[in-house]
Amino acid sequence: QGVVAVLTAAGSGRRLGAGGPKALVRVGGLSLLRRAAQGLVDSGVVDHVVVTAPAAELDRFRVEVDAVAAEAVEVVAGSPVSRQASVRLGLEAALDRMPGAEVVLVHDAARALTPPEVTRRVVAAVRAGHGAVVPALAVADTVKEVAPGLVAAQPGPAYLSAVPDRPGCLESGGEEPPGPWAEAVVGTPERARLRAVQTPQGFSAGVLVSAHRAGAAREVDEALAASDDAGLVEAQGGRVVVVAGHEQAFKITTPLDLALAEAVLRDEDS
Ligand code: CTP
Ligand code: MG
Repeated sequence: QGVVAVLTAAGSGRRLGAGGPKALVRVGGLSLLRRAAQGLVDSGVVDHVVVTAPAAELDRFRVEVDAVAAEAVEVVAGSPVSRQASVRLGLEAALDRMPGAEVVLVHDAARALTPPEVTRRVVAAVRAGHGAVVPALAVADTVKEVAPGLVAAQPGPAYLSAVPDRPGCLESGGEEPPGPWAEAVVGTPERARLRAVQTPQGFSAGVLVSAHRAGAAREVDEALAASDDAGLVEAQGGRVVVVAGHEQAFKITTPLDLALAEAVLRDEDS
């Protein structure tokens, strides 16, 4: 019985570029970590929260979450290597603490404004018998699948290129012919069938443990690691169901996202 949550906060926040761990960055005067932990506790359906923190920052992170509910929230070291590895470490700590937990949530501190109703929706779906549940929204952008290295060097306007040494970042290639890292479109999945997935994702404990065990080899390399936990369940052939997410559960990744979060909180105050 019981619901335990792993709150991932061990990332460095490179894309936000705040000069310190992203989870300690404040929005509306409170850290992302504190807001995310408070949101889980406020749902009323979470019994215990395990925060994964950068190993060098355990004390500062503890101070932050002690303000939420000292007895319900603990802080353990995550992994600098991949989110997947951090979740696995948090999951081990969570099940040490609550060996009988039926439901495990995995939530990103970076989704600091997630309304408690999303957490309640996800837990209810797991309790209804779904082994893996993700909250999600329809996507606004048309999404293309790309592959590297398929473009012959031809001159032309505005190529989009991956930025060397910055995985996941794209820049306009301007008028130059594409370099060796150029990408080409290989497909356009039908937008109506796509969903942008959020957290918390919810699992029956056995499903999540088994998925992390089966995918363990991937966690040592960020490029191979799963960016969400449901992905590990899918890789094992498990069924993942979707419930409604929420606009305010967006992930704070860049300075623009932080500005959006500030604006959302200002709106709530007035
Ligand atoms: N995370 C983690 N351990 C890692 C990497 C990420 O616990 N090794 C957590 C982050 O703290 C964050 C969540 O996973 O709450 C989602 O990751 P992301 O938004 O990518 O955060 P960062 O990795 O910190 O940011 P960046 O990728 O820009 O460095
Ligand atoms: Mg990251």
